Amino acid sequence: MKQFIVSPLNHPIKATISVPADKSISHRSVIFGAISNGRTEIKNLLASEDCLSTLKIMQQLGVEVNVFNNYESVTVYGKGLRSFVEPKNILNCGNSGTTIRLITGLLSAQNFLSVLTGDDSLLNRPMGRVVEPLTLMGAKIFGREHNTKAPIVITPGVLHGITYEMSVSSAQVKSAIMLAALYAKGETKIVEKEKSRDHTERMLTAFGAKITQEKNEIVIGPEQSLEAQSIQVPSDISSAAFFMAAGSIIPGSEVIIPKVLVNPTRSGIITVLKKMGVKVELTNKKDVSGEPIADLFITTPSELLATEVKGSTIPLLIDEIPILCIVMAQAKGKSVIKDAKELRFKESDRIKTMVTVLKKLGVEVNELEDGLEINGLNGEPFKIDPDIEWPKHFDHRIAMSVAIAALKCTEPVNVPGSEWISTSFPSFEKIISKLQVAVV
Ligand code: S3P
Repeated sequence: MKQFIVSPLNHPIKATISVPADKSISHRSVIFGAISNGRTEIKNLLASEDCLSTLKIMQQLGVEVNVFNNYESVTVYGKGLRSFVEPKNILNCGNSGTTIRLITGLLSAQNFLSVLTGDDSLLNRPMGRVVEPLTLMGAKIFGREHNTKAPIVITPGVLHGITYEMSVSSAQVKSAIMLAALYAKGETKIVEKEKSRDHTERMLTAFGAKITQEKNEIVIGPEQSLEAQSIQVPSDISSAAFFMAAGSIIPGSEVIIPKVLVNPTRSGIITVLKKMGVKVELTNKKDVSGEPIADLFITTPSELLATEVKGSTIPLLIDEIPILCIVMAQAKGKSVIKDAKELRFKESDRIKTMVTVLKKLGVEVNELEDGLEINGLNGEPFKIDPDIEWPKHFDHRIAMSVAIAALKCTEPVNVPGSEWISTSFPSFEKIISKLQVAVV
């Protein structure tokens, strides 16, 4: 694993920090543009490795893509729902779960063979959760370990609508089914136990799909065509969360993060930080391309309170839990995260990895089957235990969480896994080093 050094901050952060574009919305804008009719213009696409995997796969499927000014603007020329060509080669999704799961849904309805693979982390992640509902719809999908792991092979199938009760809360699974449903005979109904992020519902509706939603039920039917759109991608709250956390734990800080996505299915981190006593103000609220955005203003609290996070809140902050663990480790008292077993199936087993990370930082932590109990240091700096090794992982969000913790450590930290950060946040190291030099 590559490493980079982060030194403790001996001054508050008083800064405006711009974070990159939202990963989930970036993937979807490229995929939906590719199956629409006409020219979809995407402003502020996230040009990270994960989204570039999606973009490259659309090109391998015969879609014309043009990139302007270093990804400031990207145009995708869609020729309709049935315009893909059979890819000549294997489609490589890299580290990206969103790419492999959404595209599996889409390709299960095509009239040709395709093979999807990814890196070591992706090859270990569960794919049965998409294979199962798509197979019920009539898709012909095969994979390693009894069709539960990638590489995935898809051959032509004739799809029909189903009613499907999701056993896990997963927007990737929901979106894969919705994409397949565009091609199926009859309507598809999806029932979620806990509501997951709703970008597919919002964006497909904007592209012209007819979707009805009531509470946690979605009904989507087949479509003849979708219409190209212009999309402005907002800043990613999952990336903003690292600097919201820094502002919460470095005393005296005032951090402004502009134009952040504050969709209620994604903004659980704001609710929880507020509960812990952090002042988070939202200004300049508006809607951009069907998604709510706001500028965030974070002020360090005089006392950071422990809290419990569970149940339907978990899907609303699922990607923010590693960095939330770092904030909890600075709070006064015991914090608890439960009902979060899904963390075990992310880019790494994030429960296990964070337990090791927190122990290495000198924090008392207890591993639960579905979460963690964390005894906060009440503002005392983290002290590295030289006897514990950093966990080996393929996980961008763990590497960034360690880097933020390092700002509040007694000594400089060699942050492991820097090569993974570019899957979602290519400018992260640059921002961290700027913060270390001076008040920016
Ligand atoms: C995503 C959904 C979530 C999230 C991932 C992005 C999406 O995964 O963790 O980073 O874009 O739909 P699950 O669907 O597995 O919960």
